[in-house]
Amino acid sequence: MIVVASSNGNVGIQASMDVLKSGGSALDAVEAGIRLVEANPDDHTVGYNGYPNLLGELELDASIMDGSTLETGAVAGMKDYVYSISVARKVMETLPHVLLVGDGAERFAAEMGFEIEPEMLTNEMKDFWEERLKRDMPDDVFDNIKDQPDLSRWVTLASDAEKAKSTVNFIVQDKDGNIASGVSTSGWAWKYPGRVGDSPIIGAGNYADNRYGACACTGMGEMAIRASTSHSLVFYLKMGLSLHEASTRTMQDLNDLQGRFISGMNLVALDQAGNHTGFTSQKGKTYIYQTDDMDTFVETEREFVAIKHRWG
Ligand code: GLY
Repeated sequence: MIVVASSNGNVGIQASMDVLKSGGSALDAVEAGIRLVEANPDDHTVGYNGYPNLLGELELDASIMDGSTLETGAVAGMKDYVYSISVARKVMETLPHVLLVGDGAERFAAEMGFEIEPEMLTNEMKDFWEERLKRDMPDDVFDNIKDQPDLSRWVTLASDAEKAKSTVNFIVQDKDGNIASGVSTSGWAWKYPGRVGDSPIIGAGNYADNRYGACACTGMGEMAIRASTSHSLVFYLKMGLSLHEASTRTMQDLNDLQGRFISGMNLVALDQAGNHTGFTSQKGKTYIYQTDDMDTFVETEREFVAIKHRWG
């Protein structure tokens, strides 16, 4: 049994392993681990108290995938509910659909009995959002931001390198060999309202198939959507490549993307035999893992593959 996660999964990986050790499924373990990251007010890239969009609203994306059936559920642009991974799981288990967005996702969450959280941002986060926007934006624009006819011109703030694009990934293999994967994020800081990244897009930020393995991404979601990154890696495994070759090839595909906006990408992956890896285009990044014979998790460096940065 193994849990692999992005490094910000450190607050949830033990709970995830505990679920496995008490006989829970890979899906249960993915959900348990990610819920703790979503509730962590100090993680500003996932769940409660994440970085909001340009309008100061928190919009959450998440997905979960069952590698034993290829069933999946996802939500995107969901406000007012902390545990988007659990709502995503309910989508998978309750509906004939795989992805709910915005009002529909919120309505469904209420219907399923999830508790609404009226204050998804702390006052410190609201102040930080205001201070950050006002660094670039005249006060009169900020004061009328909800009615700005040209909000798109301010989306340049969303490329704020300090605060962009993190996310949490969990990939789990349970005692029966079943693999599940989950991803949750608040997306880019200061994004255009309604922007959806790769996390809830199956095949882009998340993919699991018991027969071959799983992959999940953090980084610039637009790139993972364009390259179908998570599915590509699993497909390369299916074609007989080793985990290392499949991951390297997947990163190279991202570097081959053309166009004006290319930035950083990171992935974690697990193959059906339980081998794991992490890759990044930013040197020094790490990921974590824990097997059932380990008392605690290990943090280890990801392998670096360069992706040429282009912006605008
Ligand atoms: N990878 C998360 C996002 O781009 O929203």
